[in-house]
Parts: sequence; C-alpha cells; structure tokens
Amino acid sequence: MEKIFINGGRPLQGEVSIDGAKNAVLALLAAAILCRDTVRLDNIPNISDVSIMLHILDELGADVKRINKNCVEINTRHFHSGVVPHDLTKHFRASYYLLGALFGRFGHARVAMPGGCDLGLRPIDQHIRGFEALGAKVGFEENAVISLQSDQPMGSAIYLDMPSVGATINIMLAAVRAMGNTIIEGAAKEPHVVDLANFLNSMGADVRGAGTDNIKIRGVKELHGCEYACIPDQIEAGTYMVAAAASGGDVLVRGVIPKHMETITAKLVECGARIIEYDEALHVTAPAGLRACKIKTSYHPAFPTDMQSQFGAMLTTANGISIINEGIFDNRFRYMDQLIRMGANVKVDGKVAVIEGVKALRGAQVKCYDLRAGAAMVIAGLMAHGQTEIEDIEFIDRGYVDMVGKLRAMGAEISRRDIPEQHGLRNAG
Ligand code: UD1
Repeated sequence: MEKIFINGGRPLQGEVSIDGAKNAVLALLAAAILCRDTVRLDNIPNISDVSIMLHILDELGADVKRINKNCVEINTRHFHSGVVPHDLTKHFRASYYLLGALFGRFGHARVAMPGGCDLGLRPIDQHIRGFEALGAKVGFEENAVISLQSDQPMGSAIYLDMPSVGATINIMLAAVRAMGNTIIEGAAKEPHVVDLANFLNSMGADVRGAGTDNIKIRGVKELHGCEYACIPDQIEAGTYMVAAAASGGDVLVRGVIPKHMETITAKLVECGARIIEYDEALHVTAPAGLRACKIKTSYHPAFPTDMQSQFGAMLTTANGISIINEGIFDNRFRYMDQLIRMGANVKVDGKVAVIEGVKALRGAQVKCYDLRAGAAMVIAGLMAHGQTEIEDIEFIDRGYVDMVGKLRAMGAEISRRDIPEQHGLRNAG
C-alpha cells in the first residue's frame, strides 16, 4: 500500500505550475467520440481518471495516440458502441458522459451507472429527463446498465431543476448533432461547461450562451476534427493557493485563469492572505495567523464545493470560529473526523460544520475519504507539527498530477512510499 508521509511546519516557497482541468478534460475526451476525424487535445493532465477514460475509448475501438505526456490524438472512425460495463465506469463520475457522447454519435448508447467520489446521494434524474426530451427511449438493464435509443434524436427545450454540471454537459453532448434546436434552461455555468462548448464549436458545432444559465444549441449533421487545449484546473490551482496560505508560505501559482479563481481568491483574502494577480498567475503570501471565515458552497460562480475540504483543513488553525455550509452534497464532511485526529476542534451537524481554530495541528495517521478530502489531508499534514501519514492516496491520484513532486519542489518535506500492509493496524473506519 502506498502512503504519503509529511513532516509538517515548513512554509511553502517558490512556484507551482497548474495542469489541465480534470472536470473539463473528461468531457472533452468523451466529446471526441462525436466526430469521425482525428482530434488533438493538449494540456491533458496525467491523472488516473484520464488514463481510465483513454482506456475506455481504446476498448471501444478508438485509435488513441499519446503525442507527449500532455497531448493525445484520438480517432474514433472505427468506434463501436458496445456496452460500457460497470468495471470501467465504477472508477469515476464523468464516465456518464459516454452516455451523451455515444447517443450523440450513434443515436444509441449502453453504459453502466457511474462511480466516483462518495459524497452522498448523486442522482442522475436530470440527465435522464434531458435524454428523454431529445427523444431517447431510456431503459435500465441488468448490471446497472442504462440504455438510450432513438431513431432520430430531436432538439428540444429542457428545464433543469438545478444547474447540474453533469446533466448540462451530457445534454450538450447528446444535442449537438440532434435535428433542430435545443435550449437548456437553468444550465450550469462552470468553466468546464464553457470549455466543452468552445471545444464543440471548434469541431463545427453551434453552441451559444455557455457560461450563462441559458445554452442554445443548433444541431449540425457532422462534426470535424480539430486541435484544442484544455483550460487549467481551477481546483488544482485553488488547492495550492490554500496550501500556500495554510503553511504561511509565499508561492507563485502559474498557468491559471485568474477570473476562474475569483471566489477562492476573495475568500483567502478575507482570511488574511495577500494575493497579487498577474495575467496568468497568482502570487499568494500569508501572515503567520489567518482569520476564521464563513463559507457557503453553491453553484458557479459561488464558492465551489470542490474547494470546501481544503479550506476546512486550513481553517482548523485560523483565529476564531469558522462556519462551513455545504450547499451541494449531503455527505461532504467525513474528512472532519480525520482532522479531529490531528487535534482540530470541529462539530458537524448535517450540512454545517463549525470549526473553532486551535493553536496547531499534530501529525497523525489519517486516510483519504475522497479526492478533495485527500487534498485536505495533505494540507493538514503541511500545517501540522510532526509527522502525518496518509493512506488511501489513490483518491489523490485521480485528480492531481504529481502532488508530492510539486509540493517537494516548494520545500515541503513530503514523500510517497510503498508500505507493506500490516493487518489490524490500519486507521479503522
Ligand atoms: C460535478 C463535478 C464535481 C463537482 C460537482 C459540483 C465533474 C466530473 N464532477 O459533479 O467535481 O463537485 O460538479 O460542482 O465535473 N443532482 C440531481 N440530479 C441530477 C444531477 C445532479 O439531483 O440528475 C444534484 C446532485 O446530487 C448535487 C447537485 O445536483 O446535489 C449538483 O450535482 P452536479 O452539478 O450534477 O455534480 P456532478 O456533475 O456529479
């Protein structure tokens, strides 16, 4: 079993470069199915979710060429639309984009229900309603396989009950080649939704209004190949900004779109960090003591739920009482019990966490419950006195390129080692 070890208490110093956005690239890779030509995608992050998505495309008959570590070419001319089984979809949420993309290309799709981080109930009723509005007959088969079938997908008006990122993206994928016009009312506005629209338009689609709550799609017959570079990862950048502030550091976060970072930047400034904005970089410095704050996560452009855990770790030693209100998912505070093991003073009641800042965290054996909770454990380890040992780190590999290497380059005493499992000594839970 691989673990991360951190000797905390060293402020991060230096620079870090941000890779491509996980949540955007997974939608772009699915969208590559929509045309028969070659698409070349750049700024692809080398993370395990991407490797699995490329593996699925390969299994379905795509020709996938790695041009270099950040660039792939995909040609799906000889693609077949067989079943995508649970074995392949269980690893990550965005595997459900294969439903929209296969339906958009072939008019039918059979894909097992997606896996992904366990953040509570994650229904996909809005996706299903969207597919039905486009004329799909939806079926539920053995082994959790969802099937979509239509002789001729037709554009339609779709009203989402909530601005779901996944449903918005899935409907866009399914609608770009449907006959006629589609309107998505109440659409998600996240940067990755805009990135997908830009990519689809580069392939010859006609998508307007992405980034607002009303997306209009005029269906086109064919899409063509193109070259496209994925946007930088807002959440990876935010994670290193918080790590810099939480460790009392001085870090230049390079290769970001500062506009995407505004709510995160504003919250860090409220806590006492100093942030200077450049065209494509943010310089974060922090005083020794940060201030407590209130956070409510919600849909973009509000504070992103994917940054909640990282701030949760940082606020454990901020002066005063912080309150975090999780507005998106039911079950996103499980990591707090790990912070309590490190000496944090936290009370959780449903979707609200109250954190009373303590003087310092102590190193401990902790585990990752999910991807962003894993990032929170690393941040807590950087802040803590003594050694922190983190297990279940495969969650971190799903969304962060070489987190250990990047932090070590900024002066963190952090390493990753393979440790033979000792039965009975794991952090039970
Ligand atoms: C995406 C992101 C995830 C992020 C989340 C919220 C990807 C691959 N994942 O997840 O990192 O945390 O957005 O920003 O991009 N809902 C329904 N019915 C549906 C769909 C969603 O009730 O059909 C609810 C969900 O339970 C949740 C809320 O809507 O409470 C938002 O979910 P959604 O935006 O769809 O999140 P994901 O696309 O799963």
